[in-house]
Amino acid sequence: MASLNLFSFFALLFLCHGALHLQASHHHVYSRLQDGVSAVGSSSSSSKGQPYRTGYHFQPPKNWINDLSGPMIYKGIYHLFYQYNPKGAVWGNIVWAHSTSTDLINWTPQGYGIYPSHPSDINGTWSGSTTFLQDGTPAILYTGINPKNQQVQNLAVPKNRSDPYLKDWVKNLKNPLMAPTPQNRINASSFRDPTTAWMGRDKIWRVIIGSKVDRKGMAVLYTSKDFVNWVRADHPLHSTDGTGMWECPDFFPVLVGGYKNGLDTSKLGPKVKHVLKVKHVLKVSLDDTKHDHYTIGKYDPFVDVYTPDHDGLADQDLGMRYDYGKYYASKTFFDWGKNRRILLGWVNESSTEDDDVAKGWAGVHTIPRKIWLDKSGKQLVQWPIEEVEKLREKGVKKPCQELKPGSVHEVTGVTAEQADVEISFGKLDLSKAEKLDPSWTDPQALCTRKGASVRGALGPFGLLVLGSKCMQEYTAVFFRVFQGHDGKPVVLMCSDQSKSSRNDENDKASYGTFVDVNPALENLSLRTLIDHSIVESFGAHGKSVITARVYPLLAIDGAAHLYAFNNGTQSVKASRLSAWSMKKARIG
Ligand SMILES: *[C@@H]1O[C@H](CO)[C@@H](O)[C@H](O)[C@H]1NC(C)=O
Ligand SMILES: *[C@@H]1O[C@H](CO)[C@@H](O)[C@H](O)[C@H]1NC(C)=O
Ligand SMILES: *[C@@H]1O[C@H](CO)[C@@H](O)[C@H](O)[C@H]1NC(C)=O
Ligand SMILES: *[C@@H]1O[C@H](CO)[C@@H](O)[C@H](O)[C@H]1NC(C)=O
Ligand SMILES: *[C@@H]1O[C@H](CO)[C@@H](O)[C@H](O)[C@H]1NC(C)=O
Ligand SMILES: *[C@@H]1O[C@H](CO)[C@@H](O)[C@H](O)[C@H]1NC(C)=O
Repeated sequence: MASLNLFSFFALLFLCHGALHLQASHHHVYSRLQDGVSAVGSSSSSSKGQPYRTGYHFQPPKNWINDLSGPMIYKGIYHLFYQYNPKGAVWGNIVWAHSTSTDLINWTPQGYGIYPSHPSDINGTWSGSTTFLQDGTPAILYTGINPKNQQVQNLAVPKNRSDPYLKDWVKNLKNPLMAPTPQNRINASSFRDPTTAWMGRDKIWRVIIGSKVDRKGMAVLYTSKDFVNWVRADHPLHSTDGTGMWECPDFFPVLVGGYKNGLDTSKLGPKVKHVLKVKHVLKVSLDDTKHDHYTIGKYDPFVDVYTPDHDGLADQDLGMRYDYGKYYASKTFFDWGKNRRILLGWVNESSTEDDDVAKGWAGVHTIPRKIWLDKSGKQLVQWPIEEVEKLREKGVKKPCQELKPGSVHEVTGVTAEQADVEISFGKLDLSKAEKLDPSWTDPQALCTRKGASVRGALGPFGLLVLGSKCMQEYTAVFFRVFQGHDGKPVVLMCSDQSKSSRNDENDKASYGTFVDVNPALENLSLRTLIDHSIVESFGAHGKSVITARVYPLLAIDGAAHLYAFNNGTQSVKASRLSAWSMKKARIG
């Protein structure tokens, strides 16, 4: 009941124009400050002078982070390693920093798991993955940089397997186990990021490593009987012309049929109980574009070849992405504790290097997401792990509200800078939709051209997050619905950062993607996780995801606001709106 009172829709116009309304405005600010004060006392995160530090996204206290590495669950404890510079807020001096958790949300630092110490990694310990050997030992394959600055692959295992925290790691005396040689003609500057290995029914291990030959990106395949002696296969698992270097490949099976359960990386299919079919996913991080792309396809374990279901463009930069915003170097692991596959990703800054140095840190990780194959079989679906909902505290709820053309409605009663919001829009009458110009094939370009301030018919409608009181700053996450040339609806989802900050030195590019959903037949949903400088948005129950970094100057701490809006010429119904303040996670 109380939450209903806390919730109210405000017509913004009354607040920001004219002296007559100052009284209302002051009253409003005062109630916000109250919220802010109580929030600082209890839960909101940002420390003095650090308005962009996150409250519930993973980041260490200071310095640079990038790729996460070797995530796993061992003896009931989750382990996360990540590329970390102990000496500053820019890339360099990379070690594997290590944290553990029991819920993937609250983390305890465990020191450095792997750091330069031997000739095979003295000039760098770069990304890699964990594989569970048959006796249950978690084995890490990682890329080392040798004194000649060549990229080689090394093995490390826990010093004490009884220690659930796996603090100390021992390197194999035979390292490097895979290296460029004149015979194998592997480019020593383009050979990195081994995946989790998988074992075939022939008891032979396989692993892939990112590489390229000229402009052809490839997943180089190695095999081994004992995990120590590795032989390069005569062909890559997969390669694609014109894509450049493939970093951080990830290769894993998914269930066909809309099941949300995950599978162990070595599961191949027919032997899995109660299951009709398995497909495989190959994800690569394209070094040229800094985007994570994936295809869904078939893996033939007899010849060790992966074939995407849709050839051609699907492999290239126009293919599918995990996330259409700022997002890179992701990795999944199978969580046997909860029978799910978890996806983790690195989110770079969008600020200048000078700003990163000034604030003393750079890089965050996304909220871990559960990932599975959509029942269409054509794409993956992602959703924040259920554990994040434990951070929800004070919430507001509104059953149904008409959003009139050109209206902005404030959602009060939550800490708008650290929140979780879900909004859903009722079915739309597509006869009113704008026609999609056949030349509008690039969703990001379309979002750039048609930002939140360009009025359409059905849309833009959605959320304005991290907004300042009088809308000088806001990040707009919204949908626009068009009628395609075949008469079918085309849904565009955008994250428009153009007004996110008055600081023009940041990268404020707009992001966008088309969403495979029919809003004439089902309600269109949007969930956004807001955390000071990161905005993670999930469209249509996780079919499309966009992550953005923003650095407002006004909309910080207690002065951030949250709004629902509709800037189309047609009314839309917000059939449901729920928002929660989020507690701070314990991340040491
Ligand atoms: C490689 O390592 C050697 C020995 O530690 C060091 O002198 C050299 O500067 C390093 N090179 C690079 C590029 O880091
Ligand atoms: C290994 O770890 C276990 C569990 O933490 C501990 O009891 C044991 O003393 C450790 N062994 C050594 C040799 O450190
Ligand atoms: C090897 O990779 C490096 C780094 O991308 C590139 O500069 C170089 O041209 C490549 N060499 C060959 C022979 O392809
Ligand atoms: C990270 O972001 C900065 C600032 O936008 C950019 O200059 C840099 O190239 C990015 N690095 C990667 C690896 O994405
Ligand atoms: C869809 O939206 C309508 C309002 O337009 C609402 O009555 C209905 O409950 C919503 N359905 C779901 C499943 O949320
Ligand atoms: C809605 O469109 C009008 C007209 O283009 C624009 O002035 C206004 O800023 C837009 N609202 C938002 C939230 O972008």
